[in-house]
Amino acid sequence: MALHHGVLSLVLLAVVLVVRVESGKNWALVVAGAKDYQNYFSQACSCHAYDTLRNNSIPKENIVYMSYDDVANDPENPVKGNIVNVAGGPNLYPRCKPDYRRKEVTPEVFLKVLTGDKEGVKELIGRDGKVIASGPDDHVFVYMIDHGGPGVFYFPGFVELHNKDLNNALKQMHREKKYKEMVLYVEACESGSMFEGILPEDINIYAISSTNSHESGIMCCWDKLRKVYVGSYFGNAWTYNTDTANLLKETLYQQYEVVKKACNVSGSVSHPQQYGNLSMNSEVLAQYLSKAEGYQSGVCLNTLEVDNTLRSEFSFAGIDLNNPATDMVPIATAARRLIESRDLSDEKQEELKAELRHLMLVKEKAESLTKDLVKAALSSPRGLAETDILTGKEQVFNSECYMAARSLFSARCPGINMGKYPFARRNLHAFINLCNHQPQTDVMNAIMQVTGKYGICQVL
Ligand SMILES: *[C@@H]1O[C@H](CO)[C@@H](O)[C@H](O)[C@H]1NC(C)=O
Ligand SMILES: *[C@@H]1O[C@H](CO)[C@@H](O)[C@H](O)[C@H]1NC(C)=O
Ligand SMILES: *[C@@H]1O[C@H](CO)[C@@H](O)[C@H](O)[C@H]1NC(C)=O
Repeated sequence: MALHHGVLSLVLLAVVLVVRVESGKNWALVVAGAKDYQNYFSQACSCHAYDTLRNNSIPKENIVYMSYDDVANDPENPVKGNIVNVAGGPNLYPRCKPDYRRKEVTPEVFLKVLTGDKEGVKELIGRDGKVIASGPDDHVFVYMIDHGGPGVFYFPGFVELHNKDLNNALKQMHREKKYKEMVLYVEACESGSMFEGILPEDINIYAISSTNSHESGIMCCWDKLRKVYVGSYFGNAWTYNTDTANLLKETLYQQYEVVKKACNVSGSVSHPQQYGNLSMNSEVLAQYLSKAEGYQSGVCLNTLEVDNTLRSEFSFAGIDLNNPATDMVPIATAARRLIESRDLSDEKQEELKAELRHLMLVKEKAESLTKDLVKAALSSPRGLAETDILTGKEQVFNSECYMAARSLFSARCPGINMGKYPFARRNLHAFINLCNHQPQTDVMNAIMQVTGKYGICQVL
């Protein structure tokens, strides 16, 4: 036994020491899922990722970038034509022109691009578009960043990409031999739920999510000039790490350790996860993030690493204003703008106060409405404690009920728009839990009954 073990380790060591970047082409798909100025981080991190991949010699024709592209020239942006990923950082915008912009950035187009369906793209958008035209020897890398929720990743306008549709597309690509190996980095609240229990382990795909299946991501990098969060711990950690690491030496696992460490922020930890074929952990980053022939180590921004000095206590209503949870971005942004508004007119300050009050009101009402809703749905008791339903983080077992409940809620309560107010989405866990334990009719009746009693439901 001991001898066998020794021999095996020697063999493994030999394999690990020979850095082998396989031939075949590299392809990459980068997606910013958000629009609107306050979601600056989504276009900033993705623009940085695009630039990083280009600088590591992934050819332009092999990278597809999807971004709504409204942030750089938004009227609220004081520095037009400019996107940074850390306050004081270089302007990344001139080098990241999206291949799909504005209303072309949808889950349908994304899935067609990913699966290399050029005809399908044309049908959807009425023009030819770049797709991932990869083959059986190729390596594909995907990075997507935005808000998320249980089992969903959002596209501009809060259009949902469902975990099932993403994984079906991946399985289809495997069947059609559209890659040798594929790596996905998905950054969004609850992004683990895009893969947990769904991504097969035997289709040569490896995925890292920025959070587990039931927690929020964390923002970083408040920019006083731009008055928005310009980065996130996960996004900034992997891109800056890639800019400075030796990609022929660092492995996927080592980068996973880097992002895990970066997301362990005092007070607000998120837990990046790995899914799929974990044997791929030992592969070097160059396999996916650079076209090895042209790769030059040392092409990098001066090391603007995630800034640890900003990790101090500074909060509003329990929300950490240096490192807010991603779904708290609207509130944290409004609070910081107000705190830093001394030089603004009284009128402008009043506007900021009103906005913050409204956001807090929506948050409180969403919480109390959910409590009432749970109470109503449990009115024929089945030995379930209200607190378990309100605080539990179960997986979606009854997705039919959950989807129906969400649609009914949006129709009945446009005032608590879960897209516009991402923090309200935390209450969706109660919907999931209810649907797992109560008959669908009880859940639907409770939504009908309770939403009618809340005036805020109708206030847009
Ligand atoms: C996982 O990936 C490794 C490396 O590419 C491969 O050798 C192995 O067969 C894969 N495992 C499964 C279960 O597909
Ligand atoms: C987070 O960091 C703390 C302090 O450095 C450490 O004790 C803890 O184990 C870390 N947690 C995770 C999940 O890595
Ligand atoms: C990419 O290369 C350009 C030109 O050398 C450089 O200005 C830019 O900072 C690089 N971007 C990154 C993310 O390293």
